Amino acid sequence: MKPSFFKTRAHLLVCTSEKCAGKGSRILFQTLWTALERERLAYYSGGHVRLTETGCLGACQFGPNATCYRTLESGNLEEGWYYGLDFPKILNLARALNDGETLPTENRFDQ
Ligand code: FES
Repeated sequence: MKPSFFKTRAHLLVCTSEKCAGKGSRILFQTLWTALERERLAYYSGGHVRLTETGCLGACQFGPNATCYRTLESGNLEEGWYYGLDFPKILNLARALNDGETLPTENRFDQ
């Protein structure tokens, strides 16, 4: 039996390196964890989202930044790159990832 990690539908990575941290990304990360647990979006609480910290994503001046990827029903991998995130925006992103909805376009810089 595979561990539950492999049942994760989506992975959201928040940059907590120095410059994004200076713009509040560590607090954003912790606050998002609380929300994922409260709304049961985290992979271990019945949801589908895995949240992790990550190092610099290379767009420091626009932080807090995050990236995400998920497997679509077709089996293809979809990714999204986001800048200037605040709590409402990243929670909206996490909900879309969890629910299999279209990724938000606001503050997305890979399109
Ligand atoms: S420190 Fe976050 S993108 Fe560089």
